[in-house]
Amino acid sequence: MSSFRTNYLAENKDRFLEELLSLLRLPSVSADPKFREDVFETARFIKEKLIEAGADGVELCETAGYPIVYGHKMVDPSLPTVLVYGHYDVQPADPYELWDSPPFEPVIKDEKIYARGACDDKGQMYMHLKAFEIMMKEEKLPCNVKFMIEGEEEVGSENLDPFVRSNAEKLACDVVLISDTSMLANDIPSITSGLRGLSYVEVEVTGPNRDLHSGVYGGAVANPVNALCEMIASLKDENDHITIPGFYDDVLEISESERAEMAKAPFNEQEYKDELGVGAVRGERGFSTMERATIRPTLDVNGMWGGYIGEGAKTVLPSKAYAKISMRLVPNQASEKITELFQKHFESIAPPSVKVVVTPHHGGEAAVTPTDSDAYLAAERAIGTTFGKKPIPVRGGGSIPIVALFEEALNVKTILMGFGLNSDNIHSPNESYGLFNYFKGIETIPHFYEEFAAIKAEQ
Ligand code: BES
Ligand code: MN
Ligand code: MN
Repeated sequence: MSSFRTNYLAENKDRFLEELLSLLRLPSVSADPKFREDVFETARFIKEKLIEAGADGVELCETAGYPIVYGHKMVDPSLPTVLVYGHYDVQPADPYELWDSPPFEPVIKDEKIYARGACDDKGQMYMHLKAFEIMMKEEKLPCNVKFMIEGEEEVGSENLDPFVRSNAEKLACDVVLISDTSMLANDIPSITSGLRGLSYVEVEVTGPNRDLHSGVYGGAVANPVNALCEMIASLKDENDHITIPGFYDDVLEISESERAEMAKAPFNEQEYKDELGVGAVRGERGFSTMERATIRPTLDVNGMWGGYIGEGAKTVLPSKAYAKISMRLVPNQASEKITELFQKHFESIAPPSVKVVVTPHHGGEAAVTPTDSDAYLAAERAIGTTFGKKPIPVRGGGSIPIVALFEEALNVKTILMGFGLNSDNIHSPNESYGLFNYFKGIETIPHFYEEFAAIKAEQ
């Protein structure tokens, strides 16, 4: 690292951390209207910090939902342009009682920052603002930069879609850079080379027209909770293969050589089980754990309820039962089509004793990010420099639907240069982000710009 940067980072380390902690104190939960004002305040916070870091044209772009924070620094139109995307909204912190410290009162323990959003995505997004600040202070920004930080990623980015399509010129760039994924380990750096898509539905099963006494009617009338369990259980066969007709039709099978390449990534199944506290892994027959979690589609119940769930026992045969179900999709599977297939199938398997309503939620398409591009090479070199090890490409199992949209609407590829770890508990209680990861990210990002600009300059 240049001595300017080393000194600047050392002198401003405490402030860089304090600013992130302030950001983490804002409960920007996009899913819950109770936090509406906090989400807006978070957008204003990001706007101010972008201005302070030296960005031009910083604005809050209104949408039908939460604003998109935009800003840029155009050094020279002949230089390449990097579009940084991140999100300032976070997942709900529920269940609060499982947190060791309050989710919106960040604490530092064992070299990690604990708070909702610490990793996903406030900590990772904020690294980009600080890396930009350093390059601006050094007066060595080697590319043009555009920032687009949204506040609705965790609820499906529905308003971002029209924004990107109608602002294609404003967002024009050579590559999109996102830090919102994880690495294999701090000493095994990796770059995410693809993401899964998502189809999300809610189902409602209705039995009798009112809750009934489970003694007076039990045994003679279908219980919708039981019926829902049976229907859900039938969605997978004995090989954990999904039974929805047509579900696998569009799945791109990956080649044996790609599978062999994937199998080289370090993975210890015993450690995996121990870390999760499970006695055995489980998944689709014929695929490894890593494959099941990245390149194969899934179907999971995310939540299920109905009947009496309060204290003690109540003898009731409920009228209704509900479930939220997600399907992770792989490249070439279309989210809308899968949602329709689910709906049709789920309605068709409902016994005549209950009624079923399927309501689609948000979805998104899978994405593959090439590992042979200039930008990938730049990311590989940047990480190689700061981690002292060449990163390996690894498919990610999560979803960032905007990646497919960027490709479609802006005709540009994305680099998923994430610095989180799977053990950071994103979307779970006690989410954390390592201080090492935060500062390593800040250190690495400027190298990406330099390497990318250098590669492009040679052409
Ligand atoms: N940052 C995650 C996605 C992610 C995490 C990808 C780790 C790869 C590794 C993102 O914020 C997220 O949670 N996305 C949602 C999708 C969205 C449509 C709600 C997801 O994957 O559930
Ligand atoms: Mn995220
Ligand atoms: Mn998330």
